[in-house]
Amino acid sequence: STNEIPHDKSLDNSLTLLQEGYLFISNRMERYKSDIFEARLLGQKAICISGEEAAQLFYDNERFQRFGAAPKRVQKTLFGENAIQSMDDEPHIHRKKLFMSLMTPSYQNQLTDRLTDELNASISKWENADKVILLGESKDILTKVACDWAGVPLSDTELTQRADDFITMVYTFGTVGPDHWKGRRARNRAEQWIKGVIEDVRAGRLMVEEESALYAMAYHKQLDGKPLDAHMAAVELINVLRPIVAIATFITYAALALHEHPEYKEKLQNDNSKFTEMFVQEVRRYYPFGPFVGARVRKDFHWKNCEFKTGRLVLLDIYGINHDERIWKNPNQFQPERFKDWNSNPFTFIPQGGGDPAKGHRCPGEGITVEVMKTILDFLVNSIEYDIPNQDLNYSLSEMPTIPKSGFIMSNVRRKN
Ligand code: HEM
Repeated sequence: STNEIPHDKSLDNSLTLLQEGYLFISNRMERYKSDIFEARLLGQKAICISGEEAAQLFYDNERFQRFGAAPKRVQKTLFGENAIQSMDDEPHIHRKKLFMSLMTPSYQNQLTDRLTDELNASISKWENADKVILLGESKDILTKVACDWAGVPLSDTELTQRADDFITMVYTFGTVGPDHWKGRRARNRAEQWIKGVIEDVRAGRLMVEEESALYAMAYHKQLDGKPLDAHMAAVELINVLRPIVAIATFITYAALALHEHPEYKEKLQNDNSKFTEMFVQEVRRYYPFGPFVGARVRKDFHWKNCEFKTGRLVLLDIYGINHDERIWKNPNQFQPERFKDWNSNPFTFIPQGGGDPAKGHRCPGEGITVEVMKTILDFLVNSIEYDIPNQDLNYSLSEMPTIPKSGFIMSNVRRKN
């Protein structure tokens, strides 16, 4: 019976969720000594689950569906409405193939080659600047590189606005009020822009390489053989561009990790990429970015003696599983070495979701994310030197998403020979 699920007593936990942020679920798991509890969130009953077994359960497509899971306010800022995140079954698998086909190692290399060029081209500008805010610079550079890689034309004059819109969509998903509306305006502007680009391609006004993400979205055929309408094609192309720009968050954390653990600098400098990858994985595990992910119960079932009723919203605790002490020894210490003999369990390290990305909703962009982070980390330790002036590098676990306050300021940047 459901009596065994601890119920969190508040009338509605939405506000506490915003106040406790990344620790909302794990605080209650600890309080109830349980991997499961029920709460009222966003005006409805929700079941929160954590731990490796919970992740396995959550990625069972027989038990969960995504249609109707993401609140409209999240779709109107972060995801786009009715996009891949809310699809199920064959149509989802078919759409997912499209995304996966754009994220192969060869696509990753095309992106990181452009990134390396752009980073090197930035050095003289950075040398002449009083200070360089890594978060902001990464956001602009990634926007430029992602658009070029995807085949989307972007003039220098519109770069900052487009970059700000992408990052705003990411940073407003948990907000209400004016910030939420800022997120909606950013999304509307981006959708208008990219929809126009899709229409230009289809009308033959814009020539684009067949291998590009823009071409793939413009000419993708759905299961019924029909193309996506121009708006949906734009939403899905934004689902490629926006998260590439969002890697700026992990880049900022990577620089912070290097600053907090200078003992790793030499190792990173002399590395053949194995240690850099371990460092990057630990950044993705340790620092907060995706807090949790949601789905709805497809049909009634029981798990651990608890009843999961059809339609119930279920939240999987991403941050908590990445800091679960049953899985990670000293989870609150930054230790890249833990990834030396990592067993690649798809349900215990889930910064970008769990399971098999080809079969479920796990992020298709992990390869891109890791390669982009490795490229920038290598650049930071081998191509430039910099000072780190006094600044507020704190980040709050009770803001979602969160980021070091200063955005990581570097000064006195100089090129390394
Ligand atoms: C899905 C995180 C980068 C494209 C997801 C999910 C998470 C996530 C948590 C949901 C998993 C689930 O629903 O089970 C992140 C983080 C990133 C990142 C923290 C770091 C910046 C990327 C990149 C791309 C990308 C670089 C593309 C180039 C997507 C897409 C989905 C997705 C299309 C939806 C997949 C589906 O519904 O089947 N990501 N991601 N992400 N991500 Fe990422």
